[in-house]
Amino acid sequence: MCGIVGYVGGRPCRDLLIAGLEKLEYRGYDSAGLSLLANGRIDSVRAVGNLANLRAAVADELDEGAVAVAQTEATIGLAHTRWATHGRVTEENAHPHSDEDGDVHIVLNGIIENHSELRAELRAEGHKFSSETDAEIVAHLIEGHYDGDLTAAVRAAFAELRGHYAFVAMHAEHPETLVGARNECPLVVGVGDGETFLASAIPAFLRETRSVMGIENDEIVTISPGGVEVTSAAGEPRSRELQQVTWDEEEAERGGYSTFMMKEIHEQPDAVAETITDRLPEVDEVDLSELSISAEQAQRFRRIVIVACGTSYHAGLVGRYAIETWARVPVEMDVASEYRYRDPVVGPGDLVIGITQSGETADTLAAMRLARERGAHVLAITNVMGSQATRDADSVLFTRAGLEIGVAATKTFTSQVAAIYLLGLWLAQSRGCIDRGRIAELIAELKALPRKIGETIESTDAQVRAVARGHYQGRFFLYIGRHIGLPVCLEGALKMKEITYIPSDAYAAGEMKHGPIALLDETTPVVCVATDSPVLEKVLSNVAEVGARGADVIAIATEGSEIVSEAADQTLFVPRTDWILQPILAVIPLQLLAYHTARLLGLNVDQPRNLAKTVTVE
Ligand code: G6P
Repeated sequence: MCGIVGYVGGRPCRDLLIAGLEKLEYRGYDSAGLSLLANGRIDSVRAVGNLANLRAAVADELDEGAVAVAQTEATIGLAHTRWATHGRVTEENAHPHSDEDGDVHIVLNGIIENHSELRAELRAEGHKFSSETDAEIVAHLIEGHYDGDLTAAVRAAFAELRGHYAFVAMHAEHPETLVGARNECPLVVGVGDGETFLASAIPAFLRETRSVMGIENDEIVTISPGGVEVTSAAGEPRSRELQQVTWDEEEAERGGYSTFMMKEIHEQPDAVAETITDRLPEVDEVDLSELSISAEQAQRFRRIVIVACGTSYHAGLVGRYAIETWARVPVEMDVASEYRYRDPVVGPGDLVIGITQSGETADTLAAMRLARERGAHVLAITNVMGSQATRDADSVLFTRAGLEIGVAATKTFTSQVAAIYLLGLWLAQSRGCIDRGRIAELIAELKALPRKIGETIESTDAQVRAVARGHYQGRFFLYIGRHIGLPVCLEGALKMKEITYIPSDAYAAGEMKHGPIALLDETTPVVCVATDSPVLEKVLSNVAEVGARGADVIAIATEGSEIVSEAADQTLFVPRTDWILQPILAVIPLQLLAYHTARLLGLNVDQPRNLAKTVTVE
């Protein structure tokens, strides 16, 4: 979730690049940098922290003079905001990165999956690295392939990379050329009068030009002051029309979506891909060496306790089923705000997992601290590097969802669920209670999730909007499900109440007959999570139970599951996956249902009343 801006044209671009980065700040970052080319040499300035630090670092260069950065006439450059994934938050790891001679400079978003093997090969050829990042290898690869043609060198390097990423490269011998390449991460060209931009998002250059050209996956783009050339990875020319953007700057920050929440719902494929990709280096192996927990230690855990609040708690509930099923270790769940008040029995032999997207939720931190004091091994799952949770834990597993602005958690939830799936599989692998064939099956399914999440958003959005239109003036929503469907219901009901203010409840479907069924009449929408699972038949009998009271049953089902559509009034289908993984897809229509209901009611979904993104008071 980093940001890229590149410029080539007739104007001095140092300040233009920093202004572009400012427009990408909303994406979140922990360091930033830029490289400028003037008089045949490229110089960089990088700084940890915010753009004020980068500006200060640039000012220092001005005092010292003699570098391209100080030469305000440089009219070609690259800039980047980094959200650390590979390698710590340090100046050395900040982008741009270059080869040893400093001829090739690159900025990269995303992840290079095969960075370890490429680094080893490059080392064997004599390359020396100055950072811990996967990105740096791209500069070295390009340098290795370069024989006068930068586009050809980028194309050759691109062919060797695996993962999902976009990058832009500059070469000291080409003062009028930037070359970009895209595989899954966004890249867009902005065309001005005698100048061209190449960025990860339109806001980076919207003040300068409204003529844009999107770059597609597996394309290489070469920009110069007067033009843009797009080719396929194989080198075939691609023609592309320029489009005129009509957004204002605020809309542009939201990527053209009317709200941050909708933008973030659409960012889920990317967020999940970033979270899982490089932790699945082999077809049958999960790599969580970053936890620094040995296989022997993992075998000794007698019990797992998960503590979290709000949406993060629901991610934990989904994780419990996956961990118990795959790793055969008991998992207890606790609402973090309750945990410490019951003097919990916890200590050595326990793995306590604190899930907190912000890493700052006071109750979750307090629960983690108590468990640590009593001798448990504490693992934090968080989205924010350097957050308190990372300091209070023995091990940290980062989700890589990027900054989430909407108060209602969406992409951080699905990323947390993805992270727990990884953890569950890794525990199973370390404890030797799953065979490699089964791991391989699950890894293949995990890798397909980003694509399936995207398909779910596309295929259900319009239908969900129609459902919302039928019920947005209702007085109550009920969500029912069993087993892995239940946490999805809890999360769906939470989304509904927090952004629509419509009372909503989630219940284990088997409990309906013990009370909640009294709430139902013909006006009540009942959302039922009925994806494929060993309990599907039981769920269907609960659907019949509520249907008999005249309630309007909206089912979430696995595609092709006609048995559900026959029983429900309306059915929203999600793609098929392993049934334990189904929650990460089933939650999408429920996020959309809350979203469209709130929008029909004219509510501010990004900042609902009474709620804060991070709750730092116990
Ligand atoms: C607040 C937010 C929720 C979030 C919860 C836990 O209540 O509004 O969206 O789920 O805090 O936050 P955390 O940062 O610990 O995941």
